[in-house]
Amino acid sequence: MKIDFSEPNLSKATTLVLGVPVGTRLGPQAAAFDKAVAGAIRHAMETGRFEGKRKQALRFPAPAKAGVGQILLIGLGEAKSLTATDLQNIGGEIVDELQAAKETHGTLAVEAIPGCKVKPAEIAANFAYGARLSSYRFGKYRKEKAKEGQLVLERLSVQVKGAAQAKRCYQPLEKIGEGVFFTRDLVSEPANVLYPETLAKEAATLRRLGVKVDILDEKAMRELGMGALLGVAQGSVRKPRLVALSWQGAKRAKDKRPIALVGKGVTFDSGGISIKPSAHMEDMKWDMGGSAVVLGVFRALAARKARVNVVGVVGLVENMPSGTAQRPGDVVTSMSGQTIEVINTDAEGRLVLADALWYCQDRFKPRAIIDLATLTGAIIVALGMEYAGLFSSDDKLAKKLAAAGEEEGERLWQLPLDPIYDKDINSDIADMKNVGAGRGAGSITAAQFLKRFVGDIPWAHIDIAGVTWSNQAKPTVPKGGTGFGVRLLHRFITDNYEGK
Ligand code: BES
Ligand code: MN
Ligand code: ZN
Repeated sequence: MKIDFSEPNLSKATTLVLGVPVGTRLGPQAAAFDKAVAGAIRHAMETGRFEGKRKQALRFPAPAKAGVGQILLIGLGEAKSLTATDLQNIGGEIVDELQAAKETHGTLAVEAIPGCKVKPAEIAANFAYGARLSSYRFGKYRKEKAKEGQLVLERLSVQVKGAAQAKRCYQPLEKIGEGVFFTRDLVSEPANVLYPETLAKEAATLRRLGVKVDILDEKAMRELGMGALLGVAQGSVRKPRLVALSWQGAKRAKDKRPIALVGKGVTFDSGGISIKPSAHMEDMKWDMGGSAVVLGVFRALAARKARVNVVGVVGLVENMPSGTAQRPGDVVTSMSGQTIEVINTDAEGRLVLADALWYCQDRFKPRAIIDLATLTGAIIVALGMEYAGLFSSDDKLAKKLAAAGEEEGERLWQLPLDPIYDKDINSDIADMKNVGAGRGAGSITAAQFLKRFVGDIPWAHIDIAGVTWSNQAKPTVPKGGTGFGVRLLHRFITDNYEGK
């Protein structure tokens, strides 16, 4: 779907979309248009019981002399409390309505909303951003493009006074959207197409935006002593990779020390010898979601030429059972020197992250490390599909992350870290084991395990197992790969660390 901005010319619209707040007061342009069509809009609102409430939509054919096809009224709700996120959600709902009407081209008329604090240029930009996010489809493997669910809407024209300024407001949002789409694409790819080597190639495409991308192969990892990550990889014919990324955009000396992002990139998680049941095993193609978020954030930051230094590390492996696979009971030595008894080969994410985290802090000495991982089924039991789990050794860092998530509608809920859980991962033979002894607190013991591989650097872990994939569409998040985390981390980085 293409988006363009132009000056108002309502009578040249295709399907004309008008946002109407509670109280149904029309802006001057919409009111003038209503007058020109002999009150057709007001009449439709009254007979259609349209009150301007959120989620209300009313579509009707325009009178012949209006010069437009159909008219679509969208409820904006209470004008004075409208936030940027609300406007994005409404933008998403507009796309869904146009799509339901099988429209190929919609025209959205934007003017000041009486009582709303957001300026028209920003209203237009946020509508456009939400519409863009909502228009995402992963259609590359469908032969029949018009099949159910695919987008028929080809163009959304946004008409607003001062279109050039609205377009300027939209530009950075478009780049963040590009990052979100990159993540959604990667998460959606099946595991026969996307495996460590090809995912590393995808990471390498960021070089054209100025990101430094180093790819470590098996030999390089062996030399570094990454026995935990390599143990997971050894059952698969797909060779592992570790990708280190660096974006150096900071201009001021005081901003030089980087923020680090680390991602779990298990391109398929069969469970290994501790094999998973077959129901829903296909979901484990998106067990590389954490790494995809890291790549999406780099895409957005680099496309925006963000004035900040950020490094990233993603550990890429496939977890498969075979004659060479690691066995329950095996003991591996991580890059940190700590040994791990592998009780369950399906608790592989923490093994991969153990070496990725250690490598990250050792090589980059970052200001803070944030890792993202589809780490535990237990986080879905605790929080469902709405909130991601947050764990942190640093309360200030946790607050900043939670605030960014709140702003972007990607919410985090903090769970405890506490040495009291350490006894659960004590091993009789090694420094630790990779699963907890009891049944409970599976997400916490996993986080407690990761903590042992970050040294003293302020660190946060986000468990995204419940939010990476969605079976239910939301206004700006269609079904499938959500891209959850890209907007959150992009905002966290720009709000707290980006220089002028
Ligand atoms: N990738 C899974 C976690 C997961 C489950 C992600 C469902 C998304 C949806 C992870 O590697 C895993 O298998 N975790 C185990 C840990 C257990 C063996 C301690 C789990 O959660 O069951
Ligand atoms: Mn697993
Ligand atoms: Zn996994």
